Amino acid sequence: MTINNTRLEVMETIEKSMDELLTKYLKPIEENWQPSDLLPDSKDSQFFEEVVEMQELAKEMSSDLFVVLIGDTITEEALPTYETWLMNIEGIKQDGKNGWSRWIRAWTAEENRHGDLLNKYLYLSGRVNMKEVEISTQHLIHDGFDIQTGHDPYRNFVYTSFQELATNISHRRVATLARKTGNNRLAKMCAIIAGDEARHANAYIDFVKRIFDFDPTEMMLALEDMMKKKIVMPAHFLRQSGMGIGELFAHFSDSAQRLEVYTTQDYIDILKSLLKEWSIEDISGIKDSAERARDYLMALPDRLQRISERIKIPEQEFEFKWMGV
Ligand SMILES: [Fe+2]
Ligand SMILES: [Fe+2]
Repeated sequence: MTINNTRLEVMETIEKSMDELLTKYLKPIEENWQPSDLLPDSKDSQFFEEVVEMQELAKEMSSDLFVVLIGDTITEEALPTYETWLMNIEGIKQDGKNGWSRWIRAWTAEENRHGDLLNKYLYLSGRVNMKEVEISTQHLIHDGFDIQTGHDPYRNFVYTSFQELATNISHRRVATLARKTGNNRLAKMCAIIAGDEARHANAYIDFVKRIFDFDPTEMMLALEDMMKKKIVMPAHFLRQSGMGIGELFAHFSDSAQRLEVYTTQDYIDILKSLLKEWSIEDISGIKDSAERARDYLMALPDRLQRISERIKIPEQEFEFKWMGV
């Protein structure tokens, strides 16, 4: 049996539990929150007053905080890239009956609310050059991404586990910072999105756990491979008008580090929590190469910790066109 066939078999086996997984990790559409639940109602006579209040509160927020919120929004808005990517994973077929494609569509449908809500907030906030934001969004969807997973389900589910945890942290921290400026509406938006991300993270962590049960050697090697390559953020190709591909990402990331919305320490902490979730230390009965991978992974957080202590974050704020006139 080839490695490839084992992966397909594992995917087919997990797929049998798809009804249970969908119910456990995603919410019924008509009970789910929608962006309009958190925004002023434009057919309400109070609408303009509420928008004025939103704009007053938005003035209390720093440019760095807006930049991070915009970067997070654009990351969410690039959802078409993620859906098409995930639909191409081995074992996932785009037909109505395939359980995995049902998962991807249902997950995408939940995720789509995030960019929709944040985009509307930015538009109403009065602080943002929307056209520049929209140009960056169009560029990012146009440029795609390279997350180095290939079409391998094992590598992809490592990536999505990591990424859902990262977005959970980032939205949660923006919520806290917004609340500190008195912006409770924005805080509520980011917190509710963070809640979705936490649920999604649990789902992908569960998928990987199940793969470990069936195919521990290959799952361990896939995890090692992803961590050796490093998990890149989905918006790593971010740019603004006039720039080349990816030239804005480091500036966005610096803002996020400065505000401690998403830091190198968070990367290390996510890795540690995943190693624990998947009980990596205790996995045995695997091939020698996977034993070595396990030892590499268990030593990795300390190694990254030593490197992170040497990283300096630029203090000077970059001028983002998103915040220009
Ligand atoms: Fe999201
Ligand atoms: Fe997500």
